[in-house]
Amino acid sequence: MTGHAWDRVPIAAQSVEAPLSQAAIFLVLGVNDGTDAITRVRDTLGGIDDLVKTVGFRDLSARLSCIVGIGSALWDRLGEPAKPCELKSFVAIEGTPHKAPSTPGDLLFHIRAERPDICFEFERILLGALGPAVTTIDEVSGFRYFDARDLLGFVDGTANPEGHEIGEAALVGEEDPDFAGGSYVVVQKYLHDLAAWGRTSTALQEEIVGRTKIDNIELDDAAAPRKSHKTLATIVDEQGNEHDILRDNMPFGRAGYGEFGTYFIGYTRHLWVIEKMLERMFIGEPAGAYDRLLDFSTAQTGTTFFAPSRSTLAKLAADKS
Ligand code: HEM
Repeated sequence: MTGHAWDRVPIAAQSVEAPLSQAAIFLVLGVNDGTDAITRVRDTLGGIDDLVKTVGFRDLSARLSCIVGIGSALWDRLGEPAKPCELKSFVAIEGTPHKAPSTPGDLLFHIRAERPDICFEFERILLGALGPAVTTIDEVSGFRYFDARDLLGFVDGTANPEGHEIGEAALVGEEDPDFAGGSYVVVQKYLHDLAAWGRTSTALQEEIVGRTKIDNIELDDAAAPRKSHKTLATIVDEQGNEHDILRDNMPFGRAGYGEFGTYFIGYTRHLWVIEKMLERMFIGEPAGAYDRLLDFSTAQTGTTFFAPSRSTLAKLAADKS
């Protein structure tokens, strides 16, 4: 193992760079009032590395990993001397006609493995350890769908950074030395209107996404009247630098209840990059020319967290309330 965060072994807590998995659980919790709750959360976070090993060792090929994210309000309650410089609650976006709501969440657990039962086992033991300290706000079990497609039928995740680019895109660096190696995490649970999407021609679907559906080829939309999703989500700063994020979206659903969704999760070195993407998607570029993916996808949640590096998380857990 080398010193680079992106070289870490897969069975470890806080491994943002762990590869895409077959299964994932996205668990958002509120931490209840009182110092007892805070103490119990600290103790559990202090033991998270061991818990990943305890469950993950039962099948190493399942590559269990877990990332803990901490919300802004909980960070303040922990009474730490310093806070990640961009950490704040998700700011709701009031686009016309589409809105991105801001919903509560103190802790995020992004649990990934090749086997859903391993994810479930880890979550079960984790929640047992947290006990009465927490209240579940949202829980989604995601699955990999064919060749990494979303439920709209498009391959999702292609433009993700790889190798050393992951660190550059997703991990805080020397700009905030106390929190280097950590990552800002934004989650949004989207529900799709699959019936309406199904009535839309494949040509228009491809125009909306910015890639072809079957073979995933990128489309040039420079001359198109409306920008595609992939173009609205491409952020270039004033110096001409492109800012990537790391996404690990997962489909989820309950067909029997007509529920079809995409759980969006983005890891970023700079929170403003995801905020900018959301602004371009919901307000539009230019204003009004919003992301037409939203005509078929409604954001139900929106929450921001900071996933500290393993060593920062261990320090946080060891501090006294
Ligand atoms: C690209 C789907 C929400 C950021 C893509 C692609 C698909 C997709 C199919 C093209 C393939 C790829 O490069 O991955 C979806 C769906 C969403 C969703 C189904 C939810 C309904 C979001 C949100 C953000 C985002 C909320 C950011 C805030 C991106 C980025 C790219 C991308 C950065 C790559 C752009 C590029 O450089 O080519 N998405 N997405 N997506 N999406 Fe999304």
